[in-house]
Amino acid sequence: MRLLKIPAKSRSWAARALALACILPVSGCEWLHMDGHQSAMDAEGPVALAQLKLFYVTCWVTLVIFILVGSVFAYAIFKFRARSEAEEAAIPAARGHGNPFVEMGLIGGSILALVFIAFPTLKDILYTYDVPAAEKANSYQVVAIGYQWWFKFEYPNEQIPGAGVVTTANELVIPAGRAVHIDLRSIDVMHSFWVPKLAGKVDMIPNRANFLWLEADHPGYYWGQCAEFCGDSHALMRFRVIALDDKDFSEWLAQQKLPAREVAASGTQAPKAQFASLRTFQTNEIGFADDQLNVSPLDAWRAKQFPEKNEDPALIAQGKALFQAKTCFTCHVVRGSQLGGSPLYPDLTHVGARTTIAGGVLENTPEMVQRWIHNPGAVKPGNKMWVNGYLLNHIQLTPDEEVALVAYIESLK
Ligand code: CUA
Repeated sequence: MRLLKIPAKSRSWAARALALACILPVSGCEWLHMDGHQSAMDAEGPVALAQLKLFYVTCWVTLVIFILVGSVFAYAIFKFRARSEAEEAAIPAARGHGNPFVEMGLIGGSILALVFIAFPTLKDILYTYDVPAAEKANSYQVVAIGYQWWFKFEYPNEQIPGAGVVTTANELVIPAGRAVHIDLRSIDVMHSFWVPKLAGKVDMIPNRANFLWLEADHPGYYWGQCAEFCGDSHALMRFRVIALDDKDFSEWLAQQKLPAREVAASGTQAPKAQFASLRTFQTNEIGFADDQLNVSPLDAWRAKQFPEKNEDPALIAQGKALFQAKTCFTCHVVRGSQLGGSPLYPDLTHVGARTTIAGGVLENTPEMVQRWIHNPGAVKPGNKMWVNGYLLNHIQLTPDEEVALVAYIESLK
């Protein structure tokens, strides 16, 4: 079909230029900055590094194949192109069988390429499977459990007398420079555990004892993500890994073993600290301030371990009473301070010391905690706090009650 009166020669070159122009934007042009929060190209531990190196081996092999095949293809296009109108209209020559040596060579070459990739692949499958024998004795044990849509982390060797083991949510704190074996469990549907800079992904499957291991080369703050579609809010099921040196890690463990922090109520009712807002939030509005957590997340995490500077004891006492009155305690454990709680929901004993809430989608600031308890369903559609808690139990909070509850939650360091 001749829609345009362009000579055949120019047309074919124009088509090639167009094809190239289309490839460039598709490639993403991300080559210059590959150190994003969840970039697997920026490995910071031995497991992720092994996975990254294997990826590069595959890339180089396929690049060589691409260049070889592409060159032959380009040569054929150039050599056998139609040079005139007559050649373009000519009937193609009958197909021959081809050259058996070339065909056997291609089969042999493909097998070689696969074998070349298979050796490092098998080596890394064995290496990334579990903690290397030499490091086993010094390794640390954690259990990660997937829920719709948040992560629970248990420390099976860190007993709290009469209260089970150290348990936290959405933020996995580990010792840096030490192999960590993580048992992966799921309470409901399939999830997947992935910390791109450290290791992954391995699925968390109900009734199946999966596990992985990882190690952080140095203290740091790492972003993690559920990597298996698990329902409405799958994309909002995130977590963090905080790697600490030995001293910080044992201090953190000691703090986690303590019961919930109590703030002595002062006699006078101080003026209520209103948030700048009590504003409404847009759907999918980002839940992070452009601040310390972006610039220096580990320092931001450290700062969260200490009581807030301007806390209001009277407001906190009011929030603590509301935690009972509004039946929050029936689901959430606040150890030593509130009655009840269930292992099916996030343990809030030290929630104020985390940098994120709501499955890692909101920064743990008073404004964001208020946003969450004001309307959990708007932040994370389908979540159980909204469906099984607020809706089922007709829980309603006035703005003042929200402010008091937020003050209490933030005080739980
Ligand atoms: Cu859990 Cu996706």
